[in-house]
This record gives sequence, structure tokens and C-alpha cells, in this order.
Amino acid sequence: MKTLIKKVVETFGPSGREDSIREIIKKEIEPFVDSLAVDTMGNLHAVKKGAGARVMVAAHMDEIGFVVTHIDKMGFLRISPVGGVAPVRCLYQRVLLDNGVKGVIGVEPVKNNNEIDFSKLYVDIGAKDEDEARSLAGEGRFGAFLNEMTELNDLIAAKSLDDRIGCVVAIEAARRLKKSPNEIHFVFTVQEEVGLRGARAAAFRIEPELGIALDVTGTGDTPESAKMPMKLRNGVAIKIKDSSLLVPKKVKEFFMAVAERNKIRHQPEILTFGGTDAGAINLSKSGILAGCLSIPTRYIHSVSETASLSDIEETVKLLVKILECDVKKELALE
Ligand code: CO
Ligand code: ZN
Repeated sequence: MKTLIKKVVETFGPSGREDSIREIIKKEIEPFVDSLAVDTMGNLHAVKKGAGARVMVAAHMDEIGFVVTHIDKMGFLRISPVGGVAPVRCLYQRVLLDNGVKGVIGVEPVKNNNEIDFSKLYVDIGAKDEDEARSLAGEGRFGAFLNEMTELNDLIAAKSLDDRIGCVVAIEAARRLKKSPNEIHFVFTVQEEVGLRGARAAAFRIEPELGIALDVTGTGDTPESAKMPMKLRNGVAIKIKDSSLLVPKKVKEFFMAVAERNKIRHQPEILTFGGTDAGAINLSKSGILAGCLSIPTRYIHSVSETASLSDIEETVKLLVKILECDVKKELALE
């Protein structure tokens, strides 16, 4: 699994420019599903046929990034964020543009750090002047961060664990799942970071009876962090709520019961900010049951998002066990 994680986290794919990452995921999941399709939005649908409940498993392929708004007289690219990018987390980072050009992010002098916003940041692509900059990278180009995955003891640190790690969990679950009474739609969604857009359209198309998002969640286990119960190495986090979703009680109880029955290490997730594709699925059509399995992650939306390999493994295990259940029966549908 580690090799696959490294490959997907290091691939380029900010919201709206998911083509390369979609190709990689397509190749990885193809052997384990019955059909593959890409919808108008760009979501990748990988379906395992079945007679029972339609279950949509969503993991977003996109990552945070930026778009070039203009080029200044000295030949530096000026940018605007795509998704929740904190300006201070951009400082001196290496970046890649959608045409392969690389750059580093510089900042104009400021008296104190809270003056740093996107108007003070620029991308230095090594251009000698405005004309050369324009010939290398014009307005409207998308960019994302560059960083290699690193192992820290039993943890991994990388860019885009949000949410390529959810993509890996879905691929790995598809690989391990031998038989299921349900029809499973693994959807690798686009544009989550700009407002859960891909998942909304995908859920409308599938009209699932249950939606399960796979995503990262913040933790309360670093100095002065928000007071939340989630910790690295405590297992898969079963979402109770975030700002986009109050998980229906019977969905949460179903996930908890499966974890307990199978002795899978798990913890409750009460996230005081943020949202996931599960929120968009929940509000699609006339309302759809939805929940979320999360991987506890530190430093989300930085180039060094950090998570535990053991939590990732527990997430795969729980997802497989949930998908093996007769979802219609477990949720008392019909
Ligand atoms: Co995110
Ligand atoms: Zn995410």
C-alpha cells in the first residue's frame, strides 16, 4: 500500500485539473470493478455490480492549489487560491503548474506575519522578465504544491493525503472485497476542495441508498490544538458530525456496530469545522443517508499532512466489512 500512497500523493491534481490523477486511479482500480465511467464533471465512477442496495463510496481526487491571475512587470506570477489554502503555509514552497513549469513561492516584505495574504505572495518561475514569464506560464494556469512523501517513525508525511489517502483506501477495499450483496459505486470525485461540487452531481446520477465518504479529519493531539477527541494511532474515525453533515444516527450506529463486531480499532469523530463529500451526498435528491470514515491527520492543507499507517489499515478493514454487510437489512430500508 505504501508504494501506491507515494504514487498518488505525489501526483498533480488541484481542483478542476484532476486529469493526471484520474488516469492513475483508473489504472489501479480497473482490475477490481465491473465498469468504469467518467461523468460530465470529471468524477470517475468504478462500479462493482450487485443486486442489493446501491452504496456510493466517495473519495476526492482533487487537492488544494492556486490559479495564476496575472503576471507582474518583474515577471512574477500572481495567484489566487483554489480551495482552503492558508497564505503562510505557502511561503517558500515549491510548486508545479499544469504545463509542467516549476516555481517557488516568494513573499513581499511585511512588518508582521498576519499581513501575509495572497496579494503579497508571488510565484517565481525563474523568468528574466515579464515576456519570458508570459511565454512560460500565462494567466489561468493552475498550480499545486510539490513535495515527496516522507516516513516519520510509523507515520507518513506528504502533500495531498487530503484526500488521496481516501482514494487509496477505496482502491484497496475494492481489491480486498471478494463478495458483496450490494451494488457498490466507488466514486473518485472532483472539486471537493472548492465546495463538494463533484460529489453532488455524482450522487444525483447514482441516487444511492447509502453514501460513505472517505476523507481525512483534523486531530486534537498536537500542542494547543483544538479540543477534539481524534488522535493518530487510535484507529479509523467514525464521523458523528462536521460543518456539512450530522451523520444520521442509524448510519453511525451501523458503522460502530460493524467495527465492534470485527474488533476494528475505531474512535468517534466530532469535527468542529470543515466538511466532506458526505455532506453533499446527504443533501442530494430528496435526502440520502450518508456517513464518513476518516483518517486522523495532522497539519491538513499543508505540504506535510501527517497520518498513521495503522489508522489507514483500520479504515480499509472497516470499509470492507461494511460493504460485506447487507446494507438494506442493516439500515432497515424498504
Ligand atoms: Co481538504
Ligand atoms: Zn478532503
